[in-house]
Amino acid sequence: MLKIPHAIERLGTEGAFEVLTKVKDLESQGKKIIHLQIGEPDFDTPDNIKEATYRALKEGKTHYSHSLGIWELRSAIANYYQRHYGVSVDPNEVVVGVGGKSLILITILALVDKGDEVICPNPAYPAYESILSYVGANIKFLHLRESKGFSFDIDELKDLVSDKTKLVIVNNPQNPTGGIIPKEDLLELSNLSEKYGFYVFCDEIYDRIVYESKFDSYLEISNKERTIILNGFSKTYAMTGWRLGWAIVPKDLVPVYQKLAINVYSCPPTFLQYGAIEALNGPQDSVNLMVKEFKKRRDYVYNRVNQIDKLSMIMPKGAFYAFVNISRTNLTSKQFFEKLLFEYNVAVLSGTAFGKYGEGYIRISYATSIENLAEALDRIENMVKSLN
Ligand SMILES: Cc1ncc(COP(=O)(O)O)c(C=O)c1O
Repeated sequence: MLKIPHAIERLGTEGAFEVLTKVKDLESQGKKIIHLQIGEPDFDTPDNIKEATYRALKEGKTHYSHSLGIWELRSAIANYYQRHYGVSVDPNEVVVGVGGKSLILITILALVDKGDEVICPNPAYPAYESILSYVGANIKFLHLRESKGFSFDIDELKDLVSDKTKLVIVNNPQNPTGGIIPKEDLLELSNLSEKYGFYVFCDEIYDRIVYESKFDSYLEISNKERTIILNGFSKTYAMTGWRLGWAIVPKDLVPVYQKLAINVYSCPPTFLQYGAIEALNGPQDSVNLMVKEFKKRRDYVYNRVNQIDKLSMIMPKGAFYAFVNISRTNLTSKQFFEKLLFEYNVAVLSGTAFGKYGEGYIRISYATSIENLAEALDRIENMVKSLN
């Protein structure tokens, strides 16, 4: 009988993919499910990006490339930081990976040994906790609080960090809450990183999907020698299936990333990287249009949810998620999610799919049409009314 290694048992999964399996089963029984569980834009990848990729294929860019990504793409990513944030990045500090997700794994493998102390946000994107558990890290959870706009309480962070802290993970703008960490909190984090000498891994994959004001990258204020920034093409350019992401990494760590990349995937897919250059350097109208549309939907969801007795949410400032407080319904997040899916045929994610502090919440992705959102919110309203 095959014995699965303990480390694999410690790996988690991702709620969105698990729910999709359940949804597919229901759909095969003829049920019409409204999908609000998906973490990807409902827009197509812009044509100019596809065209650049076809061209690369026709030109025979079909072989292995540099394991850290082709130089032209790494340069385009470095320029992105100059253009958007006024920060100078050397292309040698850029690592292109197979989706942002591969670089979460690689970052944790590069920095964290068994028993090392790591501070991880909660609720948060599940891959962080999963991979940290896999390597046997000593995880300290940093509670992201609705009362703080889903930022953290700086005193709680101060209580958690010590000389033993190896790494602090943050995500900004956030999945699942739509929250943005204010610049003052980022400055405090950067000061603590200097004081104690820990690395900060700041996942900024939603940096272009913001609604209120200009986004502040952690790279603008931090010491680059202790900072890893994650970003990618999936969300901004509706390229989730392309599996391309990048990280800005301290120079001395780049060879470690390279070694891990070579062992896992050799290099990111070569011809797709040419499309990614076009994404960054070509026209940005499609990004602006998408964000404008998301903003309309965000406002719609916010207004509808807050009109439903027993539900509430704060205004999301970025990403395309609403983190809805359901605690007054007296259902657990999982009960709410299951009732909504099986009885009302609306798929969302339970807040606990993002960690223990997600209890009392559900996550709605508003990356779908207003018509779908309207129908889904009617069903949610009916369900909550039925609870009386
Ligand atoms: C916060 C966050 N980080 C990273 C990722 C990974 O994205 P990808 O692997 O598609 O680049 C996601 C995807 O949902 C995310 O929400």
